[in-house]
Amino acid sequence: MAHVPTSEDQALPSGASLRREGAGSQCTAWRVTVLTLFPEMFPGPLGRSLTGQALTAGLWSLDTVPIRAFGIGRHRAVDDSPAGGGAGMVMRPDVIAAAVDQARTTSADAPVIYLSPRGAPFTQSMASEFARGPGLTLLAGRFEGIDERVITARNLIEVSIGDYVLSGGELAAMVVVDACLRLIPGVLGAAASLEEESFEGGLLEYPQFTKPRTWEGLPTPDVLQSGDHAKIATWRRAESVRLTTERRPDLLKPRKR
Ligand code: ADE
Repeated sequence: MAHVPTSEDQALPSGASLRREGAGSQCTAWRVTVLTLFPEMFPGPLGRSLTGQALTAGLWSLDTVPIRAFGIGRHRAVDDSPAGGGAGMVMRPDVIAAAVDQARTTSADAPVIYLSPRGAPFTQSMASEFARGPGLTLLAGRFEGIDERVITARNLIEVSIGDYVLSGGELAAMVVVDACLRLIPGVLGAAASLEEESFEGGLLEYPQFTKPRTWEGLPTPDVLQSGDHAKIATWRRAESVRLTTERRPDLLKPRKR
């Protein structure tokens, strides 16, 4: 997508440009800023389907801040070897801080999330909370991670999308943004589909069926043909409880929030 120059460009170091996708000029847009070494990865899948249409419609905006632009020296170095030795490279705190500070000049009140397998597990309730706010600034790290001092000094909120290690934070940032976007009014067509789906009531979603009535000898459950909406709701609830008990009993335990 074409780069639309903005006044924000001036604040960046020479050669750097803050890229904006979508209409994004409405002050009501939910504002996403991604700090990354790979700005060309965005919007990626977020530019497709419903989230893509919402981006074009200006329901949310996307800026990318290229971390490399804040790199040090002729080679724009963004990382260095770990203090104390060890494998891999660590992203420098001065470089990350400069990128975060740049993002804060245009998106002062959005929480700044650092995607990390060490972070708090991302949940549906976190998505709801973020979706109610002004937007998110997301820092996608690479290598062995970022210098601990910048996490503290810039109050970064560490968030993990699961107990596995990705090769960088970009895919995790997309996951977080997607889960938030679909909660933003107007992004999904039917709001009703939100109310009943997995996790909204702390349960997994009940099984869904459609036509044909019988497929490969397998009929859809009779109750769904009954036309009795109360009976259907009771059946669905029982199925949700059954599936949650079988697959995710942890969701049924009362949780501290
Ligand atoms: N970066 C690398 N792995 C990650 C994970 N599991 N969650 C969030 N960010 C990550």
